[in-house]
Amino acid sequence: MLFQAGIRSLQVLAPAKLNLFLRVVGRREDGYHELETVMTSVDLYDTLLFEAGDPGQISLNVVMASAQSTHSPVQESIPAGPENLVLRAANLLRADCSLGARITLIKRIPSAAGLGGGSSDAAATLAGLNRFWNLSRTPAELLNLAASLGSDVGFFLAGSSTAVCRGRGEQVEPLRITKCLHFVLAKPASGLSTAAVFKTFRPNDKRQSLEQFVSSLEQAELGRMVRLLLNDLQQPAESLNDEVRLLRQKIGTLPVLGHQMSGSGSACFGICASARHARLTAARLRAMGVPWVTAVKSCV
Ligand code: C5P
Repeated sequence: MLFQAGIRSLQVLAPAKLNLFLRVVGRREDGYHELETVMTSVDLYDTLLFEAGDPGQISLNVVMASAQSTHSPVQESIPAGPENLVLRAANLLRADCSLGARITLIKRIPSAAGLGGGSSDAAATLAGLNRFWNLSRTPAELLNLAASLGSDVGFFLAGSSTAVCRGRGEQVEPLRITKCLHFVLAKPASGLSTAAVFKTFRPNDKRQSLEQFVSSLEQAELGRMVRLLLNDLQQPAESLNDEVRLLRQKIGTLPVLGHQMSGSGSACFGICASARHARLTAARLRAMGVPWVTAVKSCV
């Protein structure tokens, strides 16, 4: 998360995330699933602008932008009503106070893609308005609010670029990664519902170990790391949405080091050897008719 303070405004950049490793350990009593996942944030950002508003009034204006240019609108739209995670986060944070804000959200991260866009926006709102309103809520208080908004919000709030997340995703253990990774990131036209994908999950006999994955990542052993990639939600997602399978097949025909779906989909990534390799692979996927493609790198 990156902050830029103006005279009477605050701008926050909210990154997307990729799940490099995701094991579903089991289903819990509360209906959620116990996870072991490694998430890394990447340099694809939504922008949030916080400005003074009338007391008691919190307004949200959502502006859609494509990943390539903030000026070219995309078809997709997201709701700007009270169900939007930004407004839910703002209302939760101000509690009973009559604080106000005008919030502008510029969306570049596609929704229903497994890239954590909504969760990142919620985390940016908690951290941003805590500063903008001078509320002095502690990190622990903010993390509590984050967990009530969504399983991934705590990862973004913690601010470490790569982390192991456990529990339903809200227990965040930062990792120290010294080398950034390059990715081509692509999404089919349709998205996926996280709840539907988790509901379709059935236990499997995949054996990749989290500890080995983390050690390969920390030691920047790319060859070993790509052999240990795992996403237990990929199979259920592909059974719900054939576009995901077709997209992964397309990425697999190109010379990437490894590839898989992120989170509950529908976006998939390919790991590339360099920024140039990622850009060239992105151009080839665009030429193959993939509707949304971009080159990104993990933030260190
Ligand atoms: O926490 P979040 O709102 O992102 O989760 C959306 C849905 O995904 C949950 O309602 C639940 O059905 C499913 N989920 C799950 N186990 C998790 C995280 C999410 O079953 N660890």
